[in-house]
Amino acid sequence: DDKDEERSEKSETSEEDDDEGSDSSEEEEENPTEEPQLLREEAKQKETDVEEEKNDKDVKEEMHKKEDCKPAVFIPVDRLPEIQEARLRLPILAEEQVIMEAVREKECVVLCGETGSGKTTQVPQFLYEAGYASSGGIIGVTEPRRVAAISMSHRVATEMNLPSGVVSYQIRYEGNVTENTKIKFMTDGVLLKEIQKDFLLQKYSVVIIDEAHERSVYTDILIGLLSRIVPLRNKKGLPMKLIIMSATLRVEDFTENKRLFRTPPPVIKVEARQFAVTVHFNKRTPVDNYTGEAFRGILVFLTGQAEVHSVCRRLRKCSLNVQNIQFLIFLKCPYYSQSLSQSLPRINLDSYSALPVDEGDEDRQAGIDDNDNEGSDLELGDHPDKEKADPSIPLYVLPLYSLLAPEQQAKVFSPPPTGARLCVVATNVAETSLTIPGIKYVVDCGRVKKRFYDRVTGVSSFKVTWISQASANQRAGRAGRTEPGHCYRLYSSAVFGDFSLFSEAEITRRPVDDLVLQMKDLNIEKVVNFPFPTPPSSEVLISAEQLLISLGALEEPPRRGRLGEMERARLSCPITPLGRAMAAFPVAPRYAKMLALGRQQGCMPYIITIVAAMTVREIFEDYDRPAGSEEENTKMAGKKARCVQMRRLWAGQGQSVQLGDLMVLLGAVGACEFAGCTHQFCEENGLRYKAMLEIRRLRGQLTNAVNAVCSDAGVYVDNKMAPPTASQVLCLRQIVLAGLGDHIARRVQAEELLDPKWRNGYKTPLLDDPVFIHPSSALHKTLPEFVVYQEIMETTKMYMRGVCAVQAEWIPKLLPQYCHFSAPEESPAPWFCPLSGRVKCHQQSTFYRVSWKLPAIEMD
Ligand code: CDP
Ligand code: MG
Repeated sequence: DDKDEERSEKSETSEEDDDEGSDSSEEEEENPTEEPQLLREEAKQKETDVEEEKNDKDVKEEMHKKEDCKPAVFIPVDRLPEIQEARLRLPILAEEQVIMEAVREKECVVLCGETGSGKTTQVPQFLYEAGYASSGGIIGVTEPRRVAAISMSHRVATEMNLPSGVVSYQIRYEGNVTENTKIKFMTDGVLLKEIQKDFLLQKYSVVIIDEAHERSVYTDILIGLLSRIVPLRNKKGLPMKLIIMSATLRVEDFTENKRLFRTPPPVIKVEARQFAVTVHFNKRTPVDNYTGEAFRGILVFLTGQAEVHSVCRRLRKCSLNVQNIQFLIFLKCPYYSQSLSQSLPRINLDSYSALPVDEGDEDRQAGIDDNDNEGSDLELGDHPDKEKADPSIPLYVLPLYSLLAPEQQAKVFSPPPTGARLCVVATNVAETSLTIPGIKYVVDCGRVKKRFYDRVTGVSSFKVTWISQASANQRAGRAGRTEPGHCYRLYSSAVFGDFSLFSEAEITRRPVDDLVLQMKDLNIEKVVNFPFPTPPSSEVLISAEQLLISLGALEEPPRRGRLGEMERARLSCPITPLGRAMAAFPVAPRYAKMLALGRQQGCMPYIITIVAAMTVREIFEDYDRPAGSEEENTKMAGKKARCVQMRRLWAGQGQSVQLGDLMVLLGAVGACEFAGCTHQFCEENGLRYKAMLEIRRLRGQLTNAVNAVCSDAGVYVDNKMAPPTASQVLCLRQIVLAGLGDHIARRVQAEELLDPKWRNGYKTPLLDDPVFIHPSSALHKTLPEFVVYQEIMETTKMYMRGVCAVQAEWIPKLLPQYCHFSAPEESPAPWFCPLSGRVKCHQQSTFYRVSWKLPAIEMD
């Protein structure tokens, strides 16, 4: 009966869903039982909807109107006069009524407005004043970046002048949310986790998706989910609103996507009062030495640590630890404490030639003029402003990037020392999410460092690429917030013309196994049917499902059937109990698998630590960057030597060496915690303090998650872990193998060496070229026959990171799914079957699924 009922619902769906494309409705009819719960509920709602519409459409409309006509609730906010004054200058204030009316009438509203127009700080306040947080529900705002979530909550709290705890934030590990919280800023990942706990998000009366133009993966998924949640909530009589905010006008992916919103949501544009920014393109094409140019121009967007260090050093030898710098904003604020509206004295960029310049940068290349008429093409240094500023005003240089400690980040908002000019060196954080007032000059190198993944092999690499025109314009726009400004582009207008118009959505650039697992946990079985604003390719979705099947998180699809059916089945495998347990862990599926297996021989605390350390990026300081003076070089070399020595120590002896880089992680965390996780200890031993704190928090969080999944696990965080015993190390290696099974590599033996490029190289199932153990790895000298690795990073060579040695005989036991069993008389070499890409081994039934018990955590 149930099925019949379902079927009838289904046919309703497919009739109504004609516009959704024939593919999906065909599938729905063919395979009704596999309909995800999400869509099923939707269908039910639709039924009710149709009835309601038939019965009392008019009455309802009337009532609706009446409700709208009610005087809006107004919750007064007692702001300080200077705050109120500053607010009134924001462009968005003029649109308050338009925005609030649209929000009242529609379920979803899209709001576009230039960075700095007041979206993030003001819209939550409008909603608060209109009573959206006064009848039980709260206002949630998601940000793609932690920095923005924290800093925006502080700003709004200050502006609203409310008791502490009313405006709060929540990021992965920390937050200040209280029972009184009415406005909650959070990262998009946090809200996604909340959806897993309560699909209807009943806590919230409004959800604002901020920075939607950035197209972060979680933002995209959230919009897809909310496009279903909001109508569901409203049908259930629990009204909810969705506001999507974007800094660009390119919102068609949300508004014109019929799978997302059947009726396109209204788009409200906020006209920002942007001052003119004169754009100066470089005459010379191309500028290869753009860090040299950056120095000359002072105001730059850069791409990486080494570049920034050299520029920073030249910017009056500041020795700040700046990482992943993508651009540099020059912010001139000698009189910051005075009103910002007061026009700031102008400076002449020529004055900076007074700064020390490294020799060698002096030789400028002869320029090629390029006569494009977009903006004036100026020689850098030829500044149109005639007023001269005192070149002796010192620079106050501050870095700003995501990994920076919050106190350090907040510095850019406070006044620089009297008489100094503030110069902010920042990453994309300052491109759109944070607005630093008073910026007048921007120099943009036009490049960005991005992580790329190979779709098939998963090899990742960082590449410096050109930015998009939209990004370039965002960067330029930073110069015209408070008065007319200038943007120096270190590339010609012709190069700009070749930039793509917009940056592509992140979801099209990265593996999606974590997202697929989370969606399956939300009972969205047919992930291909999910209303992604920009769908990832089905190739990427298939490889994600394949990995999850191998990890045991999804059920195996039937192996028989017509080709098309099999293909479709591969894209709609239901989640297994193990998969549910894995989804409860806030880490990537491979690591979640390790946690699910961790409960043997007391290994759980170690596995938690290893997983936490692998999840947090870059725990070691980088001493390979170019230093400045002789003295600095010596100091850096000393630190590096110390770090190498410590890593060797942490790698341990005997059995533990086989755990390789993961033992080093374990040793580093253990030693650091033993010392009380102090800043000093990290500094002395080459560890990044912020990373160590993050690992500590993540260990706590993972411990809670493990205890929640398995109530009798009784794991507690023992900060002062004793080193694992030899048998525990053995067990840890096997657990790691079970999680990283698809990341296996085998050393090419001397007798197999055909090409010298394979010397000391490793063969992996999917790559044609050799991969290597990095010289900094604990296993660099050992070169074990079989290893698993955390990831492959391509730099000068393809290097494996996070390497752990495994034993050949474990592979058929633990990973039969990756094995290709040969007949006993056949020689097993070569070890990777060229057709299946699987490990070739002798079929030995005793090897097959013996003593090893999976999973160790018992699910129901
Ligand atoms: O979100 P959107 O980019 O539209 O603007 P916003 O972040 O709400 O910023 C509105 C205004 O508040 C800007 O002019 C900022 O300079 C100012 N603001 C500030 O003075 N201090 C902060 N911590 C945050 C914003
Ligand atoms: Mg904003």
